[in-house]
Parts: sequence; structure tokens; C-alpha cells
Amino acid sequence: MEADNRITGKTKLMGVIGNPIEHSISPQLHNTLNKMLGLDFVYVPFRVETGALQDAVKGLKALGLVGFNVTVPYKNDVLEFLDETTEEVKIVGAANTIKNAGGRLYGYNTDTEGFARSFKEDSGTGFEGKKVAVLGAGGAARAIAVKVASEGAAGISIINRTVSKAMEIAGIINSNIGTGTDCYRPEDSGAAEALFESDIVINTTSIGMFPRIDECPVDKNTVFREEQIVYDIIYNPVKTKLLKKAEESGCKVINGLGMLFYQGIYAYEIWTGLKISEEKLREAYACFVKILGK
Ligand code: ATR
Repeated sequence: MEADNRITGKTKLMGVIGNPIEHSISPQLHNTLNKMLGLDFVYVPFRVETGALQDAVKGLKALGLVGFNVTVPYKNDVLEFLDETTEEVKIVGAANTIKNAGGRLYGYNTDTEGFARSFKEDSGTGFEGKKVAVLGAGGAARAIAVKVASEGAAGISIINRTVSKAMEIAGIINSNIGTGTDCYRPEDSGAAEALFESDIVINTTSIGMFPRIDECPVDKNTVFREEQIVYDIIYNPVKTKLLKKAEESGCKVINGLGMLFYQGIYAYEIWTGLKISEEKLREAYACFVKILGK
């Protein structure tokens, strides 16, 4: 038998905390990057039970991890255990990436930049001057709406079954960025109008995600215009019912694979200080798609 020399006394640790964590593909993505770039890091998943977040964060700091990701349900609660965060994290109220700089913990949100980069790359355009409709008003909606507003969207319509949650996001955008934001329930006539008039439609809900692939976050009578870009943060299936419907109307459609990939890439760059080349990114993306079996 050959010795296993992959982990030595010098190996540095990265990780992810969440609950559940078993489904996370981040360990495979980040360890693929470690291998591809020849870095002596290992990325490990940690399931953190309810009530144990503070101990977990202290533990990761004490053990000297270079950084870690934070996923559901701790992206908001982790903020109180950090030393510093970006302005964006303060506005969004969530961090998914923590860097340990000599015992000081810095919080970042790479979901926002991951979303923006994948949108721009796949659509060939940005948010400046665009009318954007956001479906849903959970954590993902908040991060995306703040990003879109901060990049100069002309207006945002948030459509959510619990309209009070949409209004909460609108309040945050209004007081921090000032972009005009309207809120609707899906059944409101204003919602159909806002959808029709928007340049970009973004689904941030889980409606249509495997295994409930026959569900759609917009009414069956919704008509898309071919000039519209429709983005779904879901990546399983790669083409949701929403995206199929939009594609039938001739719209440009984008799934959540790129967002998932780039939030990981940005986190990795924050921890290592490296800028991954375009060539390496393409190589990593090909592995990432294989990891997901897409
Ligand atoms: P995340 O943090 O990933 O965004 P979340 O906070 O649970 O997840 O938010 C999910 C969003 O999808 C919410 O806006 C939720 O609507 P409510 O605010 O009314 O709960 C929306 N959503 C999820 N399943 C839904 C369904 N079956 N019908 C309508 N809205 C749904």
C-alpha cells in the first residue's frame, strides 16, 4: 500500500458550516480547485446543530481555518460572531463567506457577486437602467434585489405570496440605495403588469425545484416578451418549468449553475488571495458540471 501524503502537518483548512450539510457540493468544488491549483488546502463540511453556532465559529477560529462558508440556516445569525463585514453584508443582512485573518473574522457575501457575474456573462448585459421583477422575498431575493439595486436598476418589483416580506426588502433598498421598489402578491393585477413590463425576471423561490418540477412561480396565463431575460436561481433541474415557458416565448433564459459556481470561486479567491485565470475557470467549471452530473 502507498502512503497517503495528501494531508500533512502543514495542510491548511477551509470548510463550510450549515445544517443539513450532506448535500453540499462545495467540498468537491473547493477541493477540485485545491488540486487544480496545487495548493495545500483541504475543504471540509461541518454540520452544526441548532444552538451550536457560536461554539462552532469560535472553534473554527481557534483551529485556525483560513476561512469557511456559511450556508442555510446560519447566513444571518453568523453576523453577530464576526469582527467586520462588508457594507453589502450589512445591507443584505447575510454572509456566506468568512475569512479568518489572524483571528479576526471578516464576513463577505459572494452570492451577490456570483449572481451578478453569472447573469452578465450569460446575458451579455447588466442591470443599469433595467426594470427588474424578483419572484420571492427570502434570503436569496434580498441578496439579489440589493445587488441589482446597487448596480443601477431603474426599478424593482418584488412579487411574493407573503407581501410583508417583500415590503421588508423594499424598505431596506429604499433606505440604503433609494431604487424605486414595488411589492405585489402573485394574484395582484399589478404583479402581472410588473412582470410584463420588466426587462429582467428573476426567480428566487424554490418553486419548480426537483422533485416538484411541474410547478412554476408564475401564473399559467403569464406571457413573456422575447426581449425579456429570465433567470432562475434553481439549477436542478437545469431548465425549470419557468425557463421552458420563457424560452418558448423567445426569451434569453439562465439557470442558477453559474451563480453557484461563482459564489464558490469568489470565496476561494478571498481566502487564498489568488485571482483564478479565465483558463483555469473554464477547467474548473467543466469539473463542477461533472460533479453535479449536469
Ligand atoms: P432562501 O433563503 O433560499 O431565499 P427562503 O428564505 O425560504 O429561502 O425563501 C423562499 C421564498 O420562496 C419565500 O419568499 C417564499 O415565500 P413566503 O415568503 O411567502 O414564504 C417563496 N416560496 C417558497 N415556496 C413557495 C410556494 N410553494 N409558493 C409561493 N412562494 C413560495
